[in-house]
Amino acid sequence: MNKGLLKKLGMIVAIGTIAISIVGCAGNKSTALDAIKAKGKLVVGTSADYPPYEFHKEIDGKDQIVGFDISIAKELAKDLGVELEVNDMDFDGLLVALQAKKVDMVFAGMTPTAERKENADFSDIYYNAEHGFIVKAGEEGKIKSIDDLKGKKIGVQKGSIQEALAKKSVPDAQLKSLAKVTDLVLDLKNNKVDAILVELPVAKYNVEKNSDIALTSVVLKDEEGGSAIAMKKGSDELKAEINKTIKKLQDEKKIEQFVIEANNLVD
Ligand code: ARG
Repeated sequence: MNKGLLKKLGMIVAIGTIAISIVGCAGNKSTALDAIKAKGKLVVGTSADYPPYEFHKEIDGKDQIVGFDISIAKELAKDLGVELEVNDMDFDGLLVALQAKKVDMVFAGMTPTAERKENADFSDIYYNAEHGFIVKAGEEGKIKSIDDLKGKKIGVQKGSIQEALAKKSVPDAQLKSLAKVTDLVLDLKNNKVDAILVELPVAKYNVEKNSDIALTSVVLKDEEGGSAIAMKKGSDELKAEINKTIKKLQDEKKIEQFVIEANNLVD
């Protein structure tokens, strides 16, 4: 082989190497949004025990997960041009599933606390709510202030902000944390807890549905004061898309409409 040819070959190899590394770099930059579009599917994690946010409902003889969070997720999937898959799990496992890439996003009426923000990105807040206590029907008149709950057994969802809120606000509270709010409601009905603390719209829905439980007038607020959608840290492009969808829905007053639709599903 002559020197000229060797040189040419060397050049080709060098250019090839550079080309491969450029393509490689571009590949690494593939975002959470690219991944969703590539698979043609948005996989959402939720805890479907929280009406009107997300809950199970038999519609046309089929068990379905519905609620205003799900309506928003559907809109996002539509805007991204992908299908929607909803996975129901325990609330305290949602951020773990996100970390493990089992889900792309969490739609679960989740409050974007400073602690959660360390491990996940959050969309803009799309819904605001306070927190209310549900008790057995007939007991609501006895609970006029937070002090009337002193020393009572309070049911809260495991891993929720209500856990901390009850601890902080109710003097000498004995907390009972369960994975599912539906089980907390059963516990209340069976006198295993004295009260349950959940977001006010959830309290209202459950009281509407069950005549043997009632809402007290005691209302609590939290610092963050709202729900946002969680995604993996560093999901800037995806976050921009979801914020665009939220903004559009808010401008069109669609979120309010989704809340009304979800509340109308009570039977
Ligand atoms: N907003 C509360 C929190 O972020 C409770 C949310 C519970 N959501 C649910 N789908 N069960 O901790």
